[in-house]
Amino acid sequence: MSLDCLQTPCLLLDKQKLLNNINRLNKQLTRFNVTSRPHLKTLKSVDAARYMLGDLSAPCTVSTLQEARQFAQAGCKDITYAVGISEHKLPEILDLQNQGVTLHIIMDSFEQAQFVHAFCRENDCQLSCLIEIDCDGKRAGIKPDDPQLIAIAKILQSAGLFSGILTHAGGAYDCRSLDEIRAMAQQEQAAVRDAASKLQRHQISCDVISVGSTPTALLGEGFDQVTEVRAGVYASMDLVMADLGVCQPEDIALSVLTRVIGHNKEKNWLILDAGWMALSRDLGLAPQQNGYGRVCDETGDVLPGLYVNSANQEHGIVALPEGLDLSHFTIGTLLRILPNHACATAAQHAGYQVISDDEMDYWPRFGGW
Ligand SMILES: Cc1ncc(COP(=O)(O)O)c(C=O)c1O
Repeated sequence: MSLDCLQTPCLLLDKQKLLNNINRLNKQLTRFNVTSRPHLKTLKSVDAARYMLGDLSAPCTVSTLQEARQFAQAGCKDITYAVGISEHKLPEILDLQNQGVTLHIIMDSFEQAQFVHAFCRENDCQLSCLIEIDCDGKRAGIKPDDPQLIAIAKILQSAGLFSGILTHAGGAYDCRSLDEIRAMAQQEQAAVRDAASKLQRHQISCDVISVGSTPTALLGEGFDQVTEVRAGVYASMDLVMADLGVCQPEDIALSVLTRVIGHNKEKNWLILDAGWMALSRDLGLAPQQNGYGRVCDETGDVLPGLYVNSANQEHGIVALPEGLDLSHFTIGTLLRILPNHACATAAQHAGYQVISDDEMDYWPRFGGW
């Protein structure tokens, strides 16, 4: 299919690759008989969510209230807002709940449990609360052996607000081999099992035991006692996932379509019409590894050794390796750039040009909070 009709730069979503990636996770989780609660924050698209969830009323995860609103309006009914709660967000959470959505919120402090408890008493309502567990020391959450865990669970349980626990092994992104990721997946699961058994000793049981990141979801084994797995970037994949070894560059469904708009003959550089506004400034795992993205030809085949080495606002620069001549890339040549970090690149665009064998479609996406 010719992409020549498209204005550049724009964001391409390869539908077959998207579906393959979604099938891969679904197969893995079916194998372990554990529920999928996909994170919808990467693509922020109702059309994409339909494929990720199968049925929009299936469990999903979001990272902003904007996502919660948009996906609730589209028909999502069981949403985990997986970012620590602050008091000023509670009225809107209740609003969504009153529209028939179950919106699980997360917290990792006694202070949060107290203001949620007070809010529910004042408003004569119930919210579903999950305690965030720290499984890797990388971000938020409470360690399974922190005595505060029991204190937080008790205040929530006393008002019927406690649903369970959740953790996210963001540390998987720092792993250097697939074996390290497998070990991180075990560590992630062990942390929630440990927290759940400590709670059980105080007669507090967890209906929800939630884990997840794309690397640990795809490489994890067992999932004993885990009730659900949250993965997000698995649907599109990106160069971070490819560099971790979780996928191949060929599996990445997202790319920025760009045209060659100039040559710097002295330096043997191609100038593209995709700068950091189209690609984002995210350099991925290791600065310089992939520059601002890996270069593919119009059909999506990776061109070995070609990267967007630097980026201005609307210009990308590809330094051609020795032996490769600018004449291979006449002005107007279409290229695709694979993103370092899908969430960041997608956020630069208003929607996706969805390409499949013989069809083109447009899926809008949203941003904001
Ligand atoms: C709380 C939480 N759960 C799940 C995910 C999904 O992780 P990934 O993007 O690796 O699939 C994220 C991603 O940041 C997250 O913050």
